[in-house]
Amino acid sequence: MRDLNEHTLTDEVISRFANSKSPRIKQISEALVRHLHDFVREIEPTQEEWEFAIDFLTRTGHMCDDKRQEFILLSDALGVSMLVDAINHRMPEGVTETTVFGPFYVEGAKQYELGGDITEGVSGTPMLITGTVSDQDGKPLAGATVNLWQSDTEGFYDVQRLDSLALRGVLHTNDRGEFSCWTVRPSAYPIPDDGPVGQMLEAQGRHPYRPAHVHFMIEAPGFQKLVTHVFADGDTYLDSDVVFGVKNSLIREYEMREPGQAPDGRDMTEPYAYLHYDFRLKRA
Ligand code: BEZ
Ligand code: FE
Repeated sequence: MRDLNEHTLTDEVISRFANSKSPRIKQISEALVRHLHDFVREIEPTQEEWEFAIDFLTRTGHMCDDKRQEFILLSDALGVSMLVDAINHRMPEGVTETTVFGPFYVEGAKQYELGGDITEGVSGTPMLITGTVSDQDGKPLAGATVNLWQSDTEGFYDVQRLDSLALRGVLHTNDRGEFSCWTVRPSAYPIPDDGPVGQMLEAQGRHPYRPAHVHFMIEAPGFQKLVTHVFADGDTYLDSDVVFGVKNSLIREYEMREPGQAPDGRDMTEPYAYLHYDFRLKRA
């Protein structure tokens, strides 16, 4: 086929996928070209804009290494990560909802006893986290693995400013499906915005902030792995999370309490925050 023009090019490109190695590759290739060509036809880029786009993607790639994944950040900031999450986690009523994984999970974090202190010396407003893990019908799951990680009071994760791990840990639920630990209250923070994604947000007139949250990844044999957060009620950014991850069912009060005996029996001599969440897992 020769003399292709803006009206005939798309069908010709798609016809070349006829011998794709699998129906799925064919389906994806066809949809990609159809939507990409429609996008280009809609925006009618100048040659300079096309060059800018290539440069933007090149810089995004150059920003990626084993610590920084600018392409995932781009997917997050364009709402693609939450769209993929929604499609893959169509949960029945009563099961805890999922949200983005984010770049700050670290494999092999330290294990703590229930009620342990995961701050590793990081200062801030003390916060007690308690929770339960159960199945869809509310039956407690003993021995579930609860991985949690969070920012500090200034909005930084350990991996961003420390040489060692802190404010993250692995806990195992007791016979009643309960877990607990002491930490500090996390705060809202900007996603890494010193690269192409930050420039994109700036150009789009958007802020880079996520509302305060604690990440949870919960696993139990025979159940789907749950990746989620619990967000702080009242946070300024709940309705404008830069990565679109907030769900009403995941918001809880990080309740400020006066000194005295905490729910886990600890005697507190200073005010502290208290967060409780009951997680429900879906059978695999
Ligand atoms: C996070 O919550 O850790 C996060 C999620 C998406 C992008 C950046 C950070
Ligand atoms: Fe986070």
